Order: sequence, then C-alpha cells, then structure tokens
Amino acid sequence: MLQPTTTGQAVGRAVATTGAEPVDALGCCSPQGARPGTDVDVLVIGAGQAGLAAGYALRRTGVSFTLVDAAAHVGGSWAGYYDSLTLFSPAGRSALPGLPFPGDPGRYPHRDEVAAYLRRYAEHFALPVRTGTRVQRVRWDGAAFSVSLAARGEDGARSSLRAGAVIAASGGFGAPHLPDLPGAREFGGQMLHVGRYRSPTAFAGQRVVVVGAGNSAVQVATELAEVATVTLASRAPVRWRSQRPLGVDVHHWTRFSGVEALPLGRHAQQVVGVLDDGRYRAALAAGRPGRRPMFTTLTPTGVRWADGVEEDVDTVVLATGYRPDLGYLRDLVLPDGRSALDARQDPMHRRGVSTTVPGLGYVGLPGQHGLASATLRGAGPDARRVVRRLTDQLRRRAPTPAPPGPASRTTTRPDPRSPR
Ligand SMILES: Cc1cc2nc3c(=O)[nH]c(=O)nc-3n(C[C@H](O)[C@H](O)[C@H](O)COP(=O)(O)OP(=O)(O)OC[C@H]3O[C@@H](n4cnc5c(N)ncnc54)[C@H](O)[C@@H]3O)c2cc1C
Ligand SMILES: NC(=O)c1ccc[n+]([C@@H]2O[C@H](COP(=O)([O-])OP(=O)(O)OC[C@H]3O[C@@H](n4cnc5c(N)ncnc54)[C@H](OP(=O)(O)O)[C@@H]3O)[C@@H](O)[C@H]2O)c1
Repeated sequence: MLQPTTTGQAVGRAVATTGAEPVDALGCCSPQGARPGTDVDVLVIGAGQAGLAAGYALRRTGVSFTLVDAAAHVGGSWAGYYDSLTLFSPAGRSALPGLPFPGDPGRYPHRDEVAAYLRRYAEHFALPVRTGTRVQRVRWDGAAFSVSLAARGEDGARSSLRAGAVIAASGGFGAPHLPDLPGAREFGGQMLHVGRYRSPTAFAGQRVVVVGAGNSAVQVATELAEVATVTLASRAPVRWRSQRPLGVDVHHWTRFSGVEALPLGRHAQQVVGVLDDGRYRAALAAGRPGRRPMFTTLTPTGVRWADGVEEDVDTVVLATGYRPDLGYLRDLVLPDGRSALDARQDPMHRRGVSTTVPGLGYVGLPGQHGLASATLRGAGPDARRVVRRLTDQLRRRAPTPAPPGPASRTTTRPDPRSPR
C-alpha cells in the first residue's frame, strides 16, 4: 500500500533525510500510532500558514499526522507574492498560535519576513512536513482516504498512502481567476494575472490597464503609476477601509468589538475593502493611477471605454482575484454518490468541515468561518475548530487505537515544545 518515493524532505524531528527512501523512512508517516489499516491518522495537504496551524492543533490531539507540500519549502505562497507586499495587519495581529511574530508588534512586516516566520514556526514545533510532494488525487476506498502523491524528482516517482482523515490546507488563493473578457482573443498586447506580477521594472514607460478594485489592483496600479501610465478599470468604485481608525489599527477594532469572532461565513467577504492609510486614496485622487469604469471590450491594440473612446494599451494586468485550487478532490466521491466538491468545483462545507464527506476538512478558505478566515491571524482559530471536529469523527469511526509499539519516529510523541 505504501510504496517507495524518491524525493522529499521533512522538517522538525523528522528532518534530515532526503533521497531515495520510502515514506516511512522519512519519518512522516510511521504506521505506529495510526489507526489500523492506515499509514497516518490525519494527512494535511499544504504546509503554508493554514497547514502549519492545523499541525499545531493536531499536536494536542494524540492522533498521528503529517503535512505534505508540493513546494520545495515550508511556508506556502508568501515568497511568490509581489516584491513590495507588506502585511495589512500589524505584526502583533499576524501570528499563528504559540509563537509571536518577531519585532515591534505595531509594524507591518514585509512578505519575506512572513515566509521566514513560517519556516521558523515549522521548526520550532518540529512539525512533520514532507516537501516536494504533490497530492494528485484523494479517493475514498471504503475504509480510509487513499491519497496519490507525486514527488518532485528526476523520475517523478509516485507513492500513495492511506489516511483516516484529510485536511485540505492548500490555499484559498491557489488558482488565479481569469475572467473571459470580451475581445481578449483579439488583444495583441500583453495580458497577465497579478499573481504573476513581481515589480514595476519591466513595465517602465508602458501604457497599462489594471483590472479590479481589490487590494492587489490598487496597490499594484499605484506602484506601476510611478513608472508607467496606468488606469485602474473596475466594475464598481474602490471600497476604502481606513487602516487606522482613530489612530489604532483596524484589526484591533475588529477583534475587540467581537466582529472577528462572528460566524459570518461568506458574508464576511462583503465587509472587506481596500485598506488604506491615506496614500492610495491620495494617489488615485492625483490621477496616478487614473480610474475608470470597466472597459466594454478589449480591441486588437487596447481597450474601448464605456464612452466609446478607444485607447492603446501595452499591458493589461488582471487583479481579478483567486479561487482555491482543490482539483485533487475531484474524484473524492462516496459510494452513495456524495462528492467533496459541487458542480462548480467548490468545496461543500460548514465552517471548514465537509458536509458531504466525513473525515474531510479545510483550513484557509476565505469566509470559512468569518472575517479573519484565510488570514494569518485567522488560521489558528479555524484550524482548532476543524481539528476538533475531525478528530471526533475519526475516533467515532475507529475507536480501537493501534497497540503501542516500540519508540518510533511517529510525529506525535510528546514534545516539550508542543502546545498544550
Ligand atoms: C497578494 C496577497 C496578499 C495577502 N496579504 C495578506 C496579509 O497581509 N495578511 C494576511 O493575513 N493574509 C494575507 N493574504 C491571505 C493569506 O494569508 C495568504 O494567501 C496565505 O498565503 C494563505 O496561506 P495558506 O497556507 O492558506 O495558503 P498558501 O500560502 O497558498 O499555501 C498553500 C500550500 O499548499 C501547497 N499545495 C497546493 N496544492 C498542493 C497539492 N496538490 N499537494 C501538496 N501541496 C499543495 C502549496 O505548495 C503551498 O505551499 C494575502 C493573499 C494574497 C493573494
Ligand atoms: N497585504 C496586503 O496588503 C494585500 C495586498 C493584496 C491582496 N491582499 C489580499 O489578497 C486577497 C486577494 O486580493 P485581490 O485584490 O487579489 O482579489 P479580490 O479581493 O478578490 O478582488 C478581485 C477584484 O477583481 C474584480 N473582478 C473579478 N472579476 C472581474 C471581472 N470579470 N471584471 C472586472 N473585475 C472583476 C472584483 O470586482 P467585483 O467586486 O466587481 O467582483 C474585485 O474588485 C485578499 O484577501 C486581499 O485582502 C492583501
């Protein structure tokens, strides 16, 4: 059932082993501690903040677990976001449970500091992560989840494992949303999603249209406007949110008012807007970037605005949002026909726990619980709720634990650093 894999790297106590070894030898999936017939009680897919927060919560439960991530590193997508990105919440409100974000709690850390913090988090709690390992498919085999893995490696060797429960923590922003804009096929300029944008250098001197009115659109359009002629094109005006009402960061207000804890679900998205300390509003007021209602069509050389005026454009940046990338759950269908994803490939869940497939949970989906879901500060509470529910389900399904074996490299031995 558990076949050898060729690459992979674990951190924490299981660190140190790379190369051609079976999964067990990497220390991530020792059968000791797992329910009979499975390799691990809980498999967490993704080792970004959501997966790490799930790992932290799982450490307290006594079930065996491991995290796998397709990337070569722990910490998720942060290193790949655009170069100038800083957190919208201060360091003091941007930590995962158990380890404060370093430095002045009032500052807004840079993207790279978040990536470093998450790497340190995994090490500090010795979370068992196997990197370089993509989950290709999750199925239900009648008694457990059967998970196909593809390792990054020269021969792309595959392996599989059986897990009693699965937490999908592969990110709420994994798939760029690329709307089918009229005229897009005829447009002869460059078109890219903001997820591929890094810095303004390559756009110097160009005429650029940025589509969208979210944080990405406003921030990227504003920095591009320093080197290019830029228009922000959006279906609705920008909804501004003050970064520091009455001089206190808005994330403190949402916490102390209790708004953040409310189970608003997807409605939470409706109160989110563009956070601004005044500089972006000032830039738009100065016309750098300009703003216009959404163009009606792309043309071979640019765009046609709603008033019929055509304008040449070199580059269109689509800051049109993201969707979760959960394609590996597509074949997760129970014998009675219930599936993990709906017809639009969206997960069917309530507060991160699948409503169709027992033993399946999510951490990191926008609006999964409330306002803070899919943020650094929200990952811990969301993970705690989901882990509690899934481990309950797991215990009900498999009440007989495996007999205690010899000391193993399983991932759940008590650790002085593990959370209580
Ligand atoms: C531009 C931008 C700015 C943001 N700024 C902030 C901010 O300031 N503050 C804040 O709190 N939040 C912010 N967020 C939201 C959120 O905190 C980040 O998106 C964060 O990266 C989400 O963490 P995650 O762990 O859920 O997902 P990710 O960081 O995307 O990590 C998911 C991991 O899953 C892995 N994975 C995916 N598919 C598979 C698979 N099939 N098999 C194995 N592994 C897989 C990936 O390799 C990745 O490492 C921002 C989001 C964006 C897009
Ligand atoms: N740390 C930071 O400062 C920072 C920076 C960037 C992003 N982020 C976070 O990253 C996440 C993603 O943000 P984002 O700005 O990339 O995406 P987003 O918030 O989802 O915004 C997407 C934008 O695209 C627009 N859009 C979607 N489809 C469209 C279409 N067919 N035509 C025209 N416009 C369309 C939406 O407009 P409608 O409203 O009309 O649908 C919306 O304005 C958010 O959680 C955000 O807070 C944080």
